[in-house]
Amino acid sequence: MGTLVAPSLLAADFGNLERDCKMVNASDADWFHIDVMDGVFVPNISFGMPVIKSIAAHAKKPLDVHLMIVEPERYIDAFADLGSDVLTVHYEASTHLNKTLDSIRGKGMKAGVALNPHTPVDLLEPIINDIDVVCIMSVNPGFGGQRFIETTYQKVSKLRGIIEENNATTLIEIDGGVTDQNAKRLVELGADVLVAGSFVFSSENPQETIKGLKNI
Ligand code: DX5
Ligand code: ZN
Repeated sequence: MGTLVAPSLLAADFGNLERDCKMVNASDADWFHIDVMDGVFVPNISFGMPVIKSIAAHAKKPLDVHLMIVEPERYIDAFADLGSDVLTVHYEASTHLNKTLDSIRGKGMKAGVALNPHTPVDLLEPIINDIDVVCIMSVNPGFGGQRFIETTYQKVSKLRGIIEENNATTLIEIDGGVTDQNAKRLVELGADVLVAGSFVFSSENPQETIKGLKNI
């Protein structure tokens, strides 16, 4: 499997969401990355259900939903009904994480766990086989356009080791500050999915930028 690329719609032009969704549909991108922020777990509020529904209506590729919200288990059914393919909750926001992952899979979605920069990957070892995607945050969640945190590289290698030792099929996703400057090393160390917001949408030719990341 080659590297998967998931453009983050947080960096799209909200006045032209249909146009930007069509751009992603026509590109080499694999997933739509959708950042849901509640103003509590993270300081920022992104968008809610009506906006996500219209993204879902235009998107022709799997929806990779990243919940940066407290009590994410309350919204599992809503995101399943919306047609989410991957539903990712934060380790720091879910007290009964194993149960939450079970409920997500029970609804036919892939279960994801996101880790803030300070949260060690080792914590996931006991349940690694219950996780379809680990999203390693390479910025502090809440905003697009931040600088990549360099210690992410070590977390990727360590997690790759844990996945192999446990014969797991978990994908490693990197989210935050991904550019052509760090993507190659991330993939070499074992990343499977690259999320990119501003690097894609602020570039002159977003489709070429996506292609570049895919073939890094
Ligand atoms: C940050 C979000 C990211 C963000 C990435 O809280 O989870 O998905 O949109 O944006 P860039 O690529 O601009 O850092
Ligand atoms: Zn995200």
